[in-house]
Amino acid sequence: MLRSRFIVDSGTQLCCLIGDPVAQSPSPGMHNSTFRSAGLNFIYLSFRVPAAELEAAVNGLRAIGVRGFNVTIPHKAAVTKLVDTLDSISSDLGAVNTVVNDDGKLFGVNTDIEGFITPLKDKEIHLMHRRSMILGAGGAARACIAGLVHEGCTEFVILNRTNERASRMVSDFKQKFDFEAEVAPLNEENIARSIGSVDLVVNATPIGMYPNVSESPIPKNLLREEQVIYDIVYKPVKTKLIEYAETVGATVIHGYEMLVSQAAGSFSLWTGVEAHKGVMRRTVLQLLGV
Ligand SMILES: NC(=O)c1ccc[n+]([C@@H]2O[C@H](COP(=O)([O-])OP(=O)(O)OC[C@H]3O[C@@H](n4cnc5c(N)ncnc54)[C@H](OP(=O)(O)O)[C@@H]3O)[C@@H](O)[C@H]2O)c1
Repeated sequence: MLRSRFIVDSGTQLCCLIGDPVAQSPSPGMHNSTFRSAGLNFIYLSFRVPAAELEAAVNGLRAIGVRGFNVTIPHKAAVTKLVDTLDSISSDLGAVNTVVNDDGKLFGVNTDIEGFITPLKDKEIHLMHRRSMILGAGGAARACIAGLVHEGCTEFVILNRTNERASRMVSDFKQKFDFEAEVAPLNEENIARSIGSVDLVVNATPIGMYPNVSESPIPKNLLREEQVIYDIVYKPVKTKLIEYAETVGATVIHGYEMLVSQAAGSFSLWTGVEAHKGVMRRTVLQLLGV
């Protein structure tokens, strides 16, 4: 039955976000507006959980019977050890951003991967046998690479501030996935050397993120119309990199599009109902001040 107004009662199902920090997250706004628009008796809260309290928090969420939760920095890897089962791609990736609680059994999933890929598919960007440049080698870069490999992208140039971290990620992934990767330090010289040979560039570093909004990981003179530039930073909505890419006529994908798609994946796992992405998108843009 559709609920015409929002009342929290004993039947309300709880979903939440755990991480540290969580104060700036748009997830509560996105999920609550979408629960309301779907007439679902669900509520979404966020909880700051320090690393030392993670196990107690996960056990507590299981004990009180939450329907599910999202996991953010710095717990995405650690939570894989605290759930009962994982889907195969989360297991390969070693990171979870969504947990579903089915009668006390915790199932870990990674909707960041689908969340990253969906905006590319929405723009009909074909990834099979493409060559991609990934800036960064953290948790988000791992999800992006796993998604791209899954879609048939076989060649990567991976540039990271700490070269050893990127090399470690590649040797780890090579045991699970079939792909080729060149790894080098993230600097202008290495970007200039490789950017002409790639179809897709993904910024999976926080360069350009609020408050450092005047920074771009790539200078404007290296961008071209035929490139696809995907900046997963979502605050601000129009990063300096996106602004430069638009100026040269490149195809751009904004970070908020990934944010909405990963949230839609979590929403449908918890509720069994497809999320209204238009409501999520409107809410997130409002929260990000657009
Ligand atoms: N749109 C979305 O839905 C979504 C989802 C997840 C993440 N994100 C965004 O993606 C970004 C990365 O998140 P993450 O989870 O991967 O973080 P993470 O695990 O902490 O990794 C951060 C990565 O960025 C690099 N980095 C950090 N500061 C840098 C700097 N000043 N200059 C150059 N490189 C720098 C790090 O390099 P080192 O290895 O050298 O430390 C590392 O490769 C964040 O901005 C986050 O907000 C967006």
